[in-house]
Amino acid sequence: MEERLNQLRASAMERLAAATSPEDLRAVDRDFVGKQGSLSELLASVPSLDPKDRPIVGKGANLLKRDILAEIDKRKGELEAAEIDAQRSGSDFDGTLPAAAATRGSLHPLTLVRREVESIFVSMGYEVLDGPEVELDYYNFQALNIPADHPAREMQDTFYCDREGKLVMRTQTSPVQIRAMERLKPPFRVICPGRVFRNEEPDATHEHTFHQVEGLVVGEDITVGHLSGVLKGFLRQLFQKDIEVRLRPGYFPFVEPGFELDVRCPFCTEGCRTCKNTRWIEFCGCGIVHPKVLSAGGIDPESWTGFAFGFGLDRLVMLRYGIDDLRHFMGGDLRFLEQF
Ligand code: PHE
Repeated sequence: MEERLNQLRASAMERLAAATSPEDLRAVDRDFVGKQGSLSELLASVPSLDPKDRPIVGKGANLLKRDILAEIDKRKGELEAAEIDAQRSGSDFDGTLPAAAATRGSLHPLTLVRREVESIFVSMGYEVLDGPEVELDYYNFQALNIPADHPAREMQDTFYCDREGKLVMRTQTSPVQIRAMERLKPPFRVICPGRVFRNEEPDATHEHTFHQVEGLVVGEDITVGHLSGVLKGFLRQLFQKDIEVRLRPGYFPFVEPGFELDVRCPFCTEGCRTCKNTRWIEFCGCGIVHPKVLSAGGIDPESWTGFAFGFGLDRLVMLRYGIDDLRHFMGGDLRFLEQF
């Protein structure tokens, strides 16, 4: 009986040593370990053996099975390595051919335009700030002169993060105004680009997640003239030409007076699709910082004044690249993203 096991071991190992392909290895597996293999046959015969032989054969066959499987594994690795070596040194291997080009990603259009906006404002002496996307109700509303029962809260369908309504996904970047005032000593100028969230039904111009750029300047005797001058300077650099702007009265509880700033359509002289034939494009909300907001930020409204603005970055990117659907931005479709 032991004789038989030794024979099987010898012939299996011999065949494995001679194997030159994965098929050879599979054949050894089939002939020895497989259901119809010699070892299986041997094991099946155990019950009919002399009782004293049974444990010897059973144990021996299982050990052999384990050894064959381990050897198959080892030989598989060796064959694969040999295959790679052969390919590397074979006559058709040309080590001077250029490597396959690595595919390079590209920056998201929102990132491209955000960086451009940042560098324009930095060149005008602004600091770029960041703020939390999950924000306290206090910063998102209350400190911005929007008390709990204020109708302005109806304008923004808010994602609340807790039952008490203390924590929200920020609906605007304006809370960073308060955080900036708490941290910085006037005079200062900052912008804060970032993601904001509103519970909107997505369509070509609405998304639950979009992007704003907030601006805040606090200094002495700040006027609406400073505000429109800065925004005009920014637009001139962005579009590389003078852009006419107009201010319309607009209501935001954290500024007084508050405005909507429109820009002359940069794409036409007679009216076009982008400006819906009005020659004007709504650009941002802005105004003179409300004294209550300065106080909430720990700044004395008797000594300091300021202006603030907030514009949609997505809108700007759409204008810049002629994109007609906001949903592309968060869609993750490579056919869209690879164009930038
Ligand atoms: N936060 C306002 C909005 O989301 C925009 C704004 C910012 C208005 C700063 C005035 C001053 O619509």
